[in-house]
Amino acid sequence: MPQYLMGIDLGTSSVKVLLIDSSGIILGVRANSYEIQSRHPGWAEQDMDLLWEATASTIKELLTGTGIDPIQIKGIGLSGQMHGLVLLNRERQLIRPAIIWIDQRSASYLEAMSRSEIYRQFQEITLNTPGTGFYVSSLLWLKEQEPENYRKIWKALLPKDYIRYRLCGKIGTEETDASGTLIFDTSKRLWARDLAERVGIDSQIFPDCYTSCETAGTVTLQCARATGLAPGTPVMFGGGDQPMQAVGNGIISPGTVCANIGTGSQLSCVVDRPLFDKAYRTNTFCHVQGMWTIMGASLNGGIALNWLRDNFFQGNGYASLNRYIDDVPAGSDGLIFLPYLAGERSPHMDSKARAIFFGLTLRHNYKHFARAVMEGITFSLREAMEIFLELGISCEKVVASGGGAKSRSWLQIQADILGKEIYTSRCTQEACLGAAIIAGVGAGIYSSLKEACDQLVLFKDEIVYPQDKNCQVYEEQFRKYRQLYPCNRSLF
Ligand code: XUL
Repeated sequence: MPQYLMGIDLGTSSVKVLLIDSSGIILGVRANSYEIQSRHPGWAEQDMDLLWEATASTIKELLTGTGIDPIQIKGIGLSGQMHGLVLLNRERQLIRPAIIWIDQRSASYLEAMSRSEIYRQFQEITLNTPGTGFYVSSLLWLKEQEPENYRKIWKALLPKDYIRYRLCGKIGTEETDASGTLIFDTSKRLWARDLAERVGIDSQIFPDCYTSCETAGTVTLQCARATGLAPGTPVMFGGGDQPMQAVGNGIISPGTVCANIGTGSQLSCVVDRPLFDKAYRTNTFCHVQGMWTIMGASLNGGIALNWLRDNFFQGNGYASLNRYIDDVPAGSDGLIFLPYLAGERSPHMDSKARAIFFGLTLRHNYKHFARAVMEGITFSLREAMEIFLELGISCEKVVASGGGAKSRSWLQIQADILGKEIYTSRCTQEACLGAAIIAGVGAGIYSSLKEACDQLVLFKDEIVYPQDKNCQVYEEQFRKYRQLYPCNRSLF
């Protein structure tokens, strides 16, 4: 009898659900999108009930579309947008819309905190710099600005944890997402309860923390009715979308770097000890199987390209943007884009940073803008790679992932700017695949993550090689790119 696994990735703009059989054949993928609400400038919220409804109907569509018997699904794993804050009261009802990772409302609160001793303690314990949009930052804002809501909190979850709760009724989180709250002792892999008390947060509101492959529970009758899943199907804890993306690319131990370009963009790698950048320019979070991940996370990936397309290339799809960039030489004839449209996390951790087009001349046309935006996003990944190299991390093998891996031209830009051979997976929904892999290990279909990845992660035959001529152009441009932020910082 065939055995199937389901991976759910609760993204920022859409939920994706994948069904795979245990030998590695993908039966289908379905997605449904939803909105980000912004009631005030800088705010980013989502209604978790709507996200659950989108998830339930996506599962239903996938089951109907593939026509499989749901009883043959041996496990469901979750991946999800990280860092967001989802608040439940004692009746296990949502108190308010989730405050998600893009939210900037805590900026002034953090600025004030950055001058205090507690800020340094946050860095030392969490191995990260508190930033806007992180669970703890939003929680501190809420305590001050919405005390009536703060008083109602029974548990504060992360977005995918709420979806798991609706699937199987279990309230809990797991190490990869918990370390992204920034109120978690990342080295010890425990909630930082003392630190929470020091900033006046009651640590009882943190959900119990598990590991990714553990079984959280089984599909409830109510969920079965809403989704078409079989009651009793095991649901595993899963992980944050970045760690799951890495797992879906077979990155479960040190050696390979993942360059992901989705809404944001991230360069990440796995380390076997809690290594971190002493200047806290990157993030260190928990990874699966007792490892850690170091990540240079930029807030500006595909979101910058979307912005360009929606405002200046209306009616054009990504296919035409890709054609335009092929008409422009590497380096966009000197036009450089600093992509900080949404402020920036790595390496500057500065919500006030802004985007720049630099070096504009009369010879530049609209096509140059398209290419410069893709190059600028890729330069920010290169900046993260420089930090990895400083930390002694080998960056020899790079796997490109996310939307940025779907464009052959952008893959060439990545190879040329990073100066590395670029590999890509055959599966385009790597975070879903990572979640399904976790489910397969949790369900005991595979004896280890390695065995599961060997079976389920397949790479394309084509490797994209860096081209010397382009690399030279980009080396020169990268030197200028790196100066744009420090030279303009005081103006931001
Ligand atoms: C990772 C990060 C994003 C979000 C949304 O640190 O901020 O990847 O998880 O995808």
